[in-house]
Amino acid sequence: MQVSALEFMQRISVPPIVEEQLDDAERAALKAGIKALMKAQDAVLVAHYYTNADLQDLAEETGGKVSDSLEMARFGHAHPAKTIIVAGVRFMGETAKILNPEKRVLMPTLEAECSLDLSCPAKEFAEFCDQHPERTVVVYSNTSAAVKARADWVVTSSIAVKLAKYLHARGEKLLWAPDRHLGRYVQQESGADMVLWEGSCVVHEAFQAEALVRLKKLHPDAAVLVHPESPEDVIALADVVGSTTQIVEAAKNLPNREFIVATDNGIFHKMHEEAPGKVLIEAPTGGVGATCLSCAHCPWMAMNGLRNLKHVLETGANEIHIDEEIRKKAVVPIERMLDFAAMMKTQVSDGVD
Ligand code: 13P
Ligand code: SF4
Repeated sequence: MQVSALEFMQRISVPPIVEEQLDDAERAALKAGIKALMKAQDAVLVAHYYTNADLQDLAEETGGKVSDSLEMARFGHAHPAKTIIVAGVRFMGETAKILNPEKRVLMPTLEAECSLDLSCPAKEFAEFCDQHPERTVVVYSNTSAAVKARADWVVTSSIAVKLAKYLHARGEKLLWAPDRHLGRYVQQESGADMVLWEGSCVVHEAFQAEALVRLKKLHPDAAVLVHPESPEDVIALADVVGSTTQIVEAAKNLPNREFIVATDNGIFHKMHEEAPGKVLIEAPTGGVGATCLSCAHCPWMAMNGLRNLKHVLETGANEIHIDEEIRKKAVVPIERMLDFAAMMKTQVSDGVD
């Protein structure tokens, strides 16, 4: 049986945010050492926007990628390197390994969880699916390999609405897991018949609508950019709702000078790069006197750093391994997602969207 949203939040222990602190000399030495090791080991670095600026810079300086979770999967899969280093959280490393069993996949840390993944244990999820055998099972990429193995489709936030519309048009009813906020948003936008798992992201769950309304009054010309893992009343205040890449693109392309951003503040590094001169303001994570678990930064993403990345390349530690039976099942819905995303891209470039 699935647990309620409240019970699940109580079950999860959220670690403190501990950011790597480096002085310029240590940073330069670590980067030089890592670059040499990467070259010797034919490795490419794929980093999420929520990881620290040093990792994002290093990924780009070495021909890797900084992106949302869909593009991380696509880029790593298409890249010829023998080793993929994934700076992010565990499901991102697992997705890379599921798609690339012949490659070595390393992560700076294996401790980097995700509250959505933790909220959806495979056994309880399988029972939930068994209660709804007539429904197409769509899971967010923020899940374990075992949960993906039970799914018909994997999606990320960048294509979730499009996929739900597509399946709805085919007359399919959906079972969605694990993010209840994203699920509710997808349901509203697609009109699909969906039953939802009750998970949530501790980072986005903390954004507060009332405080956001007050902040908007202070910045009346600011566009509000919101990741769809945020609560419904926060999404309702958004000018743009989208994946991390879609948020970066909005800051770059919209004419506004100011933006209020409701997602992990690690993304500001790339947003400043892509939209220089624009003013980026963090959406509030609490009303007056309120506390939050995460304060707009993912504690698990923060576990990635240059020091543990170098250690991993020196020792071969933190390699991702997936049970082959699970991998063979999980790769099917992930490949469907990549094919669907490629089809959507073709349609957009053909002017169909
Ligand atoms: P994106 O796919 O939008 O990068 O989201 C991943 C994530 O974990 C957001 O919290
Ligand atoms: Fe998971 Fe939220 Fe962290 Fe993204 S920000 S990895 S959804 S806990």
